[in-house]
Amino acid sequence: MRPHITYIHQKERKGFGHAVWLTKKFADGEPVLLLLGDFVYRSNTAESCSKQIIDAYKECGRTLVSIMEVPIERVVHYGILHGVWDEDEEIMKVDKMVEKPMDDYAKEYLGVKNKRGERKYYATFGQYVLTREVYDELEKEINSGKPSEGKEFGLTGALDRVRENCGMYGFVPKGKAFDIGLPDAYRETMINYCK
Ligand code: G1P
Repeated sequence: MRPHITYIHQKERKGFGHAVWLTKKFADGEPVLLLLGDFVYRSNTAESCSKQIIDAYKECGRTLVSIMEVPIERVVHYGILHGVWDEDEEIMKVDKMVEKPMDDYAKEYLGVKNKRGERKYYATFGQYVLTREVYDELEKEINSGKPSEGKEFGLTGALDRVRENCGMYGFVPKGKAFDIGLPDAYRETMINYCK
């Protein structure tokens, strides 16, 4: 494996978006599949969730994020997006994205109705296909010296600007996604992963 592994060290804590931007040279203008280390996916089909996400990207040709439904109590932990479903409720054309919103804000602005008329909330969940425009937006933000998330350069702000300028999609892979980056979620993953 060794010859195939490239790594880069983020020397200062400047945020998730900054860490992604450090891989710009590696990406070299190509679309990149970004997988976060604190999420685990299990596919329900013969194809891995990552393969499904890449195929969905090929269909849409735009920046695309993997999404999962989350209960309202958990919206505060994730980037939450709002948009319009396709016929199969598999691909969503995103029209808004907010990083870790309060639940009352999410209730007012970020609920997405499904075919049964139920209001649901969707989080970006650890897998992204990033196009070169995302790197361009991150670079603009970093060069401006004005971080979008407190003292940190986030990814969500850059994604939302790309969404506005070029369009963006959310995709629900056929499978189950588990968060292992939060203590409660990690516990739930331990209990539910093999079920
Ligand atoms: C990051 C993002 C968030 C996203 C999550 C999972 O959060 O900032 O928008 O929902 O990854 O993809 P973190 O896990 O760093 O708190």
